[in-house]
Parts: sequence; C-alpha cells; structure tokens
Amino acid sequence: QRIKVVDVMATPSLVSQEINVKGWVRSRRGNKNVSFIALNDGSTINNLQIVVDLSVFSEETLKPVTTGACISVIGQLVESQGKGQTVELIAKEVEVYGTADPDVYPLQKKGHSLEYLREIAHLRPRTNTFGAVFRIRHNMAIAIHQFFHERGFFYFHTPIVTASDCEGAGQMFQVTTMNLYDLKKDESGSIDYSNDFFGKQASLTVSGQLEGELAAMALGSIYTFGPTFRAENSNTPRHLAEFWMIEPEVAFNEIEENMQLAEDFIKYCIQWALDNCQDDLNFLASMYDKELLERLNFVIGNEFVRLPYTQGIEILEAAVAKGRKFEFPIFWGADLASEHERYLVEEHFKKPVILTDYPKEIKSFYMKQNDDGKTVRAMDVLFPKIGEIIGGSQREESYEKLTRRAQEMGVPEKDIWWYLDTRRFGTAPHSGFGLGFERLLLFVTGMTNIRDVIPFPRTPKNAEF
Ligand code: 4AD
Ligand code: MG
Repeated sequence: QRIKVVDVMATPSLVSQEINVKGWVRSRRGNKNVSFIALNDGSTINNLQIVVDLSVFSEETLKPVTTGACISVIGQLVESQGKGQTVELIAKEVEVYGTADPDVYPLQKKGHSLEYLREIAHLRPRTNTFGAVFRIRHNMAIAIHQFFHERGFFYFHTPIVTASDCEGAGQMFQVTTMNLYDLKKDESGSIDYSNDFFGKQASLTVSGQLEGELAAMALGSIYTFGPTFRAENSNTPRHLAEFWMIEPEVAFNEIEENMQLAEDFIKYCIQWALDNCQDDLNFLASMYDKELLERLNFVIGNEFVRLPYTQGIEILEAAVAKGRKFEFPIFWGADLASEHERYLVEEHFKKPVILTDYPKEIKSFYMKQNDDGKTVRAMDVLFPKIGEIIGGSQREESYEKLTRRAQEMGVPEKDIWWYLDTRRFGTAPHSGFGLGFERLLLFVTGMTNIRDVIPFPRTPKNAEF
C-alpha cells in the first residue's frame, strides 16, 4: 500500500513501520557506503530522503536512479539523524518504473529560469516552483467554491460557446465547423471556413456574466467559475488569451454590498492560502519574493479604500502637477492604465483600492447609470503589484435605460433580446463582478508573469502544449 509523502510526514506513528512510497527522483548524492535519494511525489513540496546502504544494494542497481527517474521504494521509516528532515526511509527494495537519461532529461538538479521552463510546459509541473504554484492553484479553486457555498450561492455553469459579446469589445475567437482533413488537403484555401457553428455565428465566451445575471434573477445568488477567452493581441505579464474567471451575481445587492462581497471574497481566499499552503508559500517567498507573506497578511488586515473615479483622477492630476511622470496622459474620461492604478495603490494609499463610478463611455453597456448622466456604477478592485484584479458593477435594471444604452453603444438587440427579457419580466436591482483567477494567483504566489500561474498559458502564437 503506497503512502503519499505528505502523509508520511504528517503521521508520527509511521516511524519504525515498513512503508512503500513512489515518486520521482529529484537528486541522488552520497559516497562509497551510502546513497541518499531525494524523492518527490508531488503531494508536497518536501522530499522524502531515501537512504540506500551500498553494502546491501550494488552501485549497478542504483545506476538508473538518476534525476527525473520514477521509482518505488519499500523500506523502514526512521527518525532522521541528519539535518533538513525529521524522518527518512531506509530502503529495503527499490524498483525503477521509468528511467530519465541524464544526457537528455531537460530538468537537471540545477535551477532553471522561468523562461526556459515555459518552453517545457509539459515537464515544468515536476519542478518545485510549479509544483507549489499548481498546488496553490488547486487550493484557491477549493477556497472559492467553499466561500460561495458557505454563503448560499449556487455554482451555475454558463456556456463556453456563445453568440453574445458581453464586454462589447469585439475581441472574440470565432468558432468554426470544419473537417481537419479537408483543411489539410485544402492548400489553395478554396474552402470557406469563415463562419460557422452549424450555420450560425458563434464565439468563445469572454464572460459568463450575462447568463449569470439570468440565473441570479431566478436563484438569487450564483457564481460562475470557468474558462473565458479574449482575442486581444496583448503580450503583457498580466494578460492571457484564455483565463479563468469567477463571476458572482447577486439579486438585490447594490454596489456597496457588491464591494463588500468582493473584499470579503479576496480576503477569504488569501486567508485560505495562508492556512493551507504554508510550505508552498514559504518556498515561493524564499525563492522569489521575500515580502510575500507580509503582503498577504497586510491585505487581510486592512480595509480596501473606496474611491470614486473622479477623486482618483484628481489625485493623479495632483501627482502630475508635482512632477510625477506617467507614460499615458491623465484626464477625466481617460481609461486608467496599469501605471495609474498602481500609483493609487502602491504610492498614494498603500492599500488595495476599489475605484467606483467611472465615466460611462469607458465602461460596458450593462452598468447602472448614475443620476449625473455621466458616470456608471462600476467598480474595479485595484491591487498592489497587479493593478486590476476585479471588474464589476451594479447592473442597469431599467428596461428602457438598458435598451437605450445598448443602442447607443451599438450592441444589436437581436443578440441580447433574451438578456433584455430579465428587465422586462420581474426586474430587480442586482450586482456582480468578475475576478481574474490568474490575477489572484499572481498575487497569492508572488509570481510576476501570468504565464507562470496557469499550466498551459495561451498567449498570442502560443498554443503548443
Ligand atoms: O474587467 P473584465 O473584462 O469584466 C468582465 O468580464 C465582467 N463581465 C465581469 C463581471 O462583472 N461579471 O474582466 C474581469 C477580470 C479583470 O478584472 C481581470 O482580473 C480578469 O478578469 N481579466 C483577465 N485576466 C487575464 N487575462 C486577460 N486577458 C484578462 N482580462 C480580464
Ligand atoms: Mg475590467
């Protein structure tokens, strides 16, 4: 019966027992008399030390036990004499499942750059860094479901193939029906694949919000959690063409309650990481970001600033007047660039900021219009190191206002008639937001490139693995 390394280390009563562990060799070192194998099975960042007595095993048997090889070991667990581990396994039987030729195995013991590891996305989960990141990623997904479940929200599945462009930005990937073999034969390009999903236009969703709103108008409090797609050709450390988004939508919530939900939600997730991912966080902190834990604790311990956009612009203008330089111009009506967001968060308030009431021109058609005729009840949560981590709003619940705004912004009624129906039949105030899962992970792990917090990053021209 195999025991996971994480359980071996958490179960003191296993000491002196005979156990079986299986995993991948991280390294092997030693001398003429004894060989030490660092074994990792992915269940924890910690390796189990395997002690091989060379008077029992020949050097020949151990030859295939090199970095990257997969082995099964039966032996007796003992308290360790050496430094760096509490227990170790005295090998009795070693079976090699799979070798990894040291001349060609790409992950040798030395540290590799994150850039290099991105090129071997199929193997990088075997490194300490990516093992830690992906265990944290799993834990954050669990925290998210737990948070909403505890609060009586229902997990609602929205479609990935859809015809509506929620954000109205026109940055969608088209879905086409085609026969791959025809496509390969068709070198002249004479077959037209330009449309269609069985004769209809369809795309990959940019957001589950519109469908989520329908659900909130029936189930009260819902959330979605799934992949979303943006065909924007932006090569930045914070954008992916395929990313995961969590979108709660709550009937009867006004913007203030929406802000509180967003703040409670993020804090809950961070607390979860601190409670459940200590070893992985400590490792990442030691490797990449000495202030990681401090920053996580700081966010949990402080209230997010609530700031209207107009005041945000005033603060930025005052900074410019004092000589602070920005790459992009700042004026009322401008969409904030990440440098502006980070100025507010990192330099001015030194706290997360929830910016509200943006000019309606720079926000989507569905946001509730304020009485000033100029702004909408939008809210972006801005984070240190990240910039925008959440975008959301109170929704326009008036059928007339919403229809007019959709027309003004060129959203065809034929595409959203079903959405408008929620305002025709039993409309209600409601609010919601979208959290970018990978942006949350950037913050929690301290990694600085979004390509390093998702197993298979999709960015322009990158879809190999
Ligand atoms: O601000 P966005 O575009 O808002 C929406 O999609 C709304 N429908 C959400 C809602 O109200 N239900 O996206 C929401 C969040 C952003 O704040 C950001 O964290 C993340 O999604 N995001 C991206 N993450 C990675 N790569 C991209 N290209 C992203 N675009 C947005
Ligand atoms: Mg946004």
